[in-house]
Amino acid sequence: MTTAPVLCGLGTWLPPRAVSNEDLTTELDTSDEWIRSRTGIGVRHIADPGTATSDLAVEAGRRALKSAGVEKVDAVVLATTTPDQPCPATAPLVAAQLGLGQVPAFDVGAVCTGFLYATTAASGLIALGSARTVLVIGSDVYSRILDPTDRSTRVIFGDGAGAVVLRAGEPDEPGALGRAQLGSDGTGADLVSIRSGGSREPLRAENAAEADPYFRMNGKSVFRNAVERMADTSRAVAQEAGWAVDDIDHLVAHQANLRILRAVADRLKLPHERCPVHLDRVGNTAAASLPLALADAVESGRLRPGDRTVLTAFGGGLTWGACALRWPEIHPY
Ligand code: COA
Repeated sequence: MTTAPVLCGLGTWLPPRAVSNEDLTTELDTSDEWIRSRTGIGVRHIADPGTATSDLAVEAGRRALKSAGVEKVDAVVLATTTPDQPCPATAPLVAAQLGLGQVPAFDVGAVCTGFLYATTAASGLIALGSARTVLVIGSDVYSRILDPTDRSTRVIFGDGAGAVVLRAGEPDEPGALGRAQLGSDGTGADLVSIRSGGSREPLRAENAAEADPYFRMNGKSVFRNAVERMADTSRAVAQEAGWAVDDIDHLVAHQANLRILRAVADRLKLPHERCPVHLDRVGNTAAASLPLALADAVESGRLRPGDRTVLTAFGGGLTWGACALRWPEIHPY
């Protein structure tokens, strides 16, 4: 019998401080009307100074372990663009703080597609027999990398973390992940980027005046690419699962922008109601976006056991991906 990765636990964590669109108007030349009509976002959560990606990841991880009813896992994979520090990776620290012992633990960097990439890496560990259970976490504190004066990015992103537990199981059981479709196109690397602070342009006192340590995004190009890639990979994984596109009960897409979610649904000719919306209350939480949206869909009673579910994401890199599963019986914390 083939081994399949099976989703068996889901946990999330948002930093408590909620920042409304109104709150942002005190610092930026923007308005609630502009933000809502262009993005669909109303509120985002922002980590307090001193709270790092690992802090959010540990909370979400603890909750996912509780949801799965386990205390130990065989590996930890953490998706993030905002590690606690450039070196070492954040995952080993998270594993240690969760009391998981000396398990393999590593970070995955695929920007907003990170959670799907991390899930696929974890699935590979299970398929190889290297692990029977893996904790996969998406955690990001984008508020730390945004230019405080840049209204085009500050209004979009929020901080948060979400995690799932995968276990070795069988391909036909609820929660079994189908083969993911992942892709990248590095010719678009400059569309979403932080120019300074890496090996090409290290941050040094002598170049501080010309350096740009902040996250920059070409919103329009990202928008078009995101719609096409998420729609195309979603169609592909549905087909591989043996479903017609219209059979998809929930297309849970990376929560970048309400107009993107609507455009993906339109491209697939799916009713908008089948694309759950969570970004109105959290903004774009990057690697945390998919597990946060899943938990919200379960808690609101929309996503139910047995439902045909497709997860899809798009992010800097450029990167994108999708994967299909029948939703399992789990209680998120
Ligand atoms: N408040 C008010 N005005 C704003 C603003 C804000 N927060 N941000 C930008 N604007 C202004 C711009 O300066 C521009 O003004 P101008 O016409 O005088 O130059 C105008 O609004 C239109 O800007 P534009 O960038 O064309 O808007 P848009 O409709 O493309 O929306 C995004 C901008 C960023 C919301 C949109 O492109 C988007 O969501 N893209 C995808 C981004 C994304 O999801 N990235 C993550 C992928 S992982």
